[in-house]
Amino acid sequence: MVNIQRHMNQSSKQSGLTRRHFLAATGLAAVAPTFIPASALGANGKAPASERIVMGVVGWGMQGPGNTAAFLNEKDCQVVAACDLDTRHLGAAVNTVNSKYGNKDCRPYHDFRELMARTDIDAVMLAVPDTWHALVATEALRNGKDVYGEKPLARTIAEQQAIVKAVKKYNAIWQTGSWQRSVENFHYAAEIVRNGLIGKISRVEVGLPSGHYDFAGTGGPLLKRLADVPGAPKDLAQVVPGTPAWNAAVTQPPPELDYDFWTGPSQMEPYIEARVHMNWRWNYNVGGGQLLDWIGHHCDIAHWGLGFDDNGPHEIDGNGEFPPKNAIWNTSPKYRIELEYPDNIHMTIAGGYSDIRSGTKWIGDQGWVWVDRGGFQSSIQKFNDMSRLPEDLRKVKLYYSRNHQHNFLECVRSRKPTIAPASTAHHSATPGHLGLISMLTGRKLRWDVKKEEILGDKEASKLLSRPFRAPWKLTV
Ligand SMILES: NC(=O)c1ccc[n+]([C@@H]2O[C@H](COP(=O)([O-])OP(=O)(O)OC[C@H]3O[C@@H](n4cnc5c(N)ncnc54)[C@H](O)[C@@H]3O)[C@@H](O)[C@H]2O)c1
Repeated sequence: MVNIQRHMNQSSKQSGLTRRHFLAATGLAAVAPTFIPASALGANGKAPASERIVMGVVGWGMQGPGNTAAFLNEKDCQVVAACDLDTRHLGAAVNTVNSKYGNKDCRPYHDFRELMARTDIDAVMLAVPDTWHALVATEALRNGKDVYGEKPLARTIAEQQAIVKAVKKYNAIWQTGSWQRSVENFHYAAEIVRNGLIGKISRVEVGLPSGHYDFAGTGGPLLKRLADVPGAPKDLAQVVPGTPAWNAAVTQPPPELDYDFWTGPSQMEPYIEARVHMNWRWNYNVGGGQLLDWIGHHCDIAHWGLGFDDNGPHEIDGNGEFPPKNAIWNTSPKYRIELEYPDNIHMTIAGGYSDIRSGTKWIGDQGWVWVDRGGFQSSIQKFNDMSRLPEDLRKVKLYYSRNHQHNFLECVRSRKPTIAPASTAHHSATPGHLGLISMLTGRKLRWDVKKEEILGDKEASKLLSRPFRAPWKLTV
């Protein structure tokens, strides 16, 4: 192991190869060196140390721990590093990893760039707020890592394009956390549609959540605290700068959190706890509201069924209700986007409209299929009576995975595409980004799917990217 590592370090400095690429290229991954101790050779049921995929994890909030738990349960990978900007979260990450392995090997990092610079790390799991996706991912990719990243692919279409470009340039394996693809009922529904079993599709309905949800439990206590302030607000979507409620909501960041770093490429704003951990998604400075939080799930499934992983809408007409622009929670709580796709398919993506049911529904000329977490229904009774298509109906067989994290590790080894690669995630989230741009400009957009350009609307086109606060810059 030591010899292999030293050889690799010299070699990778010259050629840019990572440990994993080096092992694959030389065939050494398959040969256990004789000096490895018995425990490292898999005596405890794990793969030999020389064959494990070495991982680092970045972001230990709502999603990071769940993703990491899945990797910790995999025998052929070893988590050796964790990174977070909140020392409480970082401590929890390191403790979780070390107690799982019964050692003290997991190293803590404040700055993700230091973790990415480690040449012994093959792959990383990223679960940071959307504003960070492109910067952290491209740093990982430049350093030769394979990446398990979260949805939506990034905070803008331009940042998504940068990730797709970097994945190609560095020949990396990418898995997006659109894990519904690895669940039976979603696969079943999409396969029915792809096999033409409900006929020619004319309409798709994608129902997403509405409003704002106090995930972190920081919104409720703040509202209680504001109850005695003149004009006591009932909702954080009513609290705007310059009011007594706003002044009372702004506090110093806690010493455990590096708030300046956390804000990253977004605009620096006064610290308000209720829009930081988990609830950042309700403020457009860092997140994208319910629409962008969920587009990478149900629109991803809609595209899968249509065979549109590489396709998209050419016309987008979005309408949303918005709180005041600078409110603590300013993302649209109610929205409806009408989209025109190739083959005369019309899609509606909506949150807060009772005619659009949560989940994904495809409507064809011979029937419909609806799917959501824990739910499946079809107008064709025989599909309700089974949970997998019989082989003779599976002319088109969709990619099959039943463990999203395991699928990533398998692909890191085989160098084959995952079930949710970067380009697919880019296309799955693009209708949400375009819908939001249409909502913000108040205009219908025309989109060139191949060139990935908004046609004839300079103002809307500006919203395809966002400025980066110094010193952050996106380079591929
Ligand atoms: N796939 C899913 O089902 C699913 C579910 C929830 C969240 N997510 C996604 O996971 C990502 C994270 O969301 P969350 O709800 O866990 O957020 P969160 O706020 O709960 O956690 C994010 C963590 O990242 C840390 N962090 C922020 N910037 C960092 C940086 N530059 N370097 C290191 N650490 C940093 C924060 O301190 C925090 O601990 C988002 O993209 C979100 O969309 C996916």
